[in-house]
Amino acid sequence: VAPVVIEIDDPADPRVGDFFRLNDPELRRLRERPPDGRDEAGGDEAGGGFLVAEGTLVIRQLLRSPYPVRCLLVTPRGLADLAEDLSDVDAPVYLVSQAAMTGVAGFHFHRGALASAARRPPPAFDDVAATADLVLVAEGVNDNENLGALFRNAAAFGAGAVVLDRTSADPLYRRSIRVSMGQVLRLPFARVPSAAEAMVGLRAAGFEVLALTPAADAEDLDDVAVRARQALVVGAEGPGLTPQALGAADRRVRIPMAPGVDSLNVATAAAVALSRLARLR
Ligand SMILES: C[S@@+](CC[C@H](N)C(=O)[O-])C[C@H]1O[C@@H](n2cnc3c(N)ncnc32)[C@H](O)[C@@H]1O
Repeated sequence: VAPVVIEIDDPADPRVGDFFRLNDPELRRLRERPPDGRDEAGGDEAGGGFLVAEGTLVIRQLLRSPYPVRCLLVTPRGLADLAEDLSDVDAPVYLVSQAAMTGVAGFHFHRGALASAARRPPPAFDDVAATADLVLVAEGVNDNENLGALFRNAAAFGAGAVVLDRTSADPLYRRSIRVSMGQVLRLPFARVPSAAEAMVGLRAAGFEVLALTPAADAEDLDDVAVRARQALVVGAEGPGLTPQALGAADRRVRIPMAPGVDSLNVATAAAVALSRLARLR
């Protein structure tokens, strides 16, 4: 199937409505995640709605993912960059000038290509716990860029899945997808009502559950040995892990830091710890 390329001049054309005012977070939330799209665990991924991927690298990941593409918006340069990738895409490709692209997006969008795709319900937590052997759990990670970086690191160091509590951000928001370099579209993630409850479930499924904390009395990461199934739990910028999550872990683990440094960024901490486990494994 060759892509259907349709030229569009008017930035208000409703056919490119998936990409209107990309820098207006309120409008985007309303458009991408209809109110009935919340799942029981507080995620916005289920029940309809769509996501937006930007740039050729991320769009290539999208085309290889299970998310069904709705349409693409490209400038001539974006179309040339993606030409081979689009040869069997069964969705309209809207071609616009750079000026019209800016008009649609609401700011000077220079990456040359956008794609939208339908959201899908995420896998159930039990399925994740049954299949992945190295899992990253995030509690209260409500910043889209940190969440995207967590997924990128989790994928890079071989985690099989990510588990997000209800207070963590939407991984399918455009900025998370971009910062993850499209890994949120590849790596399975489950939504759970509470990280502490998920940690109990992971332990019951045979995982050693390690809570990452900068607390001075936690064990040194270097003392962690490899186990067949392990889960790393990270907390929010600011407060860190809740007492419930810290209490639900098998071990509290610390990455040593130079004196006078309070803590690492959450994605950096996850990268250091996952890298160590990946090398041990
Ligand atoms: C910015 S830190 C939160 C700092 C918070 N004051 C605390 O005590 O946890 C965000 C998350 O990154 C992880 N983290 C940061 N620095 C760490 C370190 N040195 N060792 C282990 N985990 C760390 C923890 O999971 C933490 O919840």
